[in-house]
Amino acid sequence: MVEVLEGDCIHHLRSLCERGEQFHLTFLDPPFNQGKEYDLFEDNLPPETYWQWMEQVCQLVYRCSAPGAAIYFMQREKNTEQVLRVLRETGWSLQNLIVWMKRTSAVPNINRYGKQYQIIAFATKGEAPRVFHRLRIDAPLRPEHRQPREDGVFVTDCWDDIRELTSGYFAGDEALRTQGGERFHKQQSPIALLLRIILSSTNPGDRVLDPFAGTGTTGVVAEQLGRHCVLIENAPRNLAMIRWRLEVQRPADSIDRWRHYYRFTPNLDQIWPVEDALAWGREKQMALFEERSQRLKCGH
Ligand SMILES: C[S@@+](CC[C@H](N)C(=O)[O-])C[C@H]1O[C@@H](n2cnc3c(N)ncnc32)[C@H](O)[C@@H]1O
Repeated sequence: MVEVLEGDCIHHLRSLCERGEQFHLTFLDPPFNQGKEYDLFEDNLPPETYWQWMEQVCQLVYRCSAPGAAIYFMQREKNTEQVLRVLRETGWSLQNLIVWMKRTSAVPNINRYGKQYQIIAFATKGEAPRVFHRLRIDAPLRPEHRQPREDGVFVTDCWDDIRELTSGYFAGDEALRTQGGERFHKQQSPIALLLRIILSSTNPGDRVLDPFAGTGTTGVVAEQLGRHCVLIENAPRNLAMIRWRLEVQRPADSIDRWRHYYRFTPNLDQIWPVEDALAWGREKQMALFEERSQRLKCGH
């Protein structure tokens, strides 16, 4: 089940804390304060103001997290120092600094190396995670590996197998578009990214939180994995998109295509219940099929 909360995340996080809600995983993908266009956010705050805000968010998320709960805080690599500081000062224990490698060309720079990754700081409430599933993937062999692998490899802290949706043709079917073909939301996260995070750090039935939901990718994946999810978003057009996406259940949003890639994970059947995933889009597909058959019968 996905609950969508409209409005400012600080306001809603406070209410969630007051209601005594306990989340098991939070995905934090805020605006990065780098001058991007947002409907209701000035993405050019003075750095102190921006980091005070992030501190407030992390503090509130900590308050409404269960013991051992996980937070995944995504940011541009330039902000690594601040992310680690904010997490530490709000009580979180760092587990990994994940490097998410981008596939598109590096952003060039004349004074330093071109930028080709984003960071995702994975931290927990308390020293040890309440849940951590060691996922195995069927990663392609590198030229220096001569023997084929029989049962894949464990996922490490370097994620170079998840394609970002940032550039035009690269984004494929998964990228949401306006009628004019433009990307609907330039920061839409890939399904595969949330799939890995939710699978690693939760069990079916757990509660997932996303205070900067954007297009609702976290909810779309959580629902297919049988996790409860609370999404917070303040821009009305994004809220409309979240509702539409959850309602329509596009085949491009299905997590099915990744199942084979994770097949060597020993407890995959327990953490990825197939019934929930298969239900995604099935009713819509059936309705579409019925409608088409009716039209054919009527000779349209
Ligand atoms: C980087 S995007 C998240 C993208 C998301 N991961 C996805 O897959 O679409 C950040 C989102 O936070 C929203 N936002 C900015 N300030 C907010 C606030 N104070 N409260 C709630 N949402 C906010 C923006 O409208 C934007 O959609």
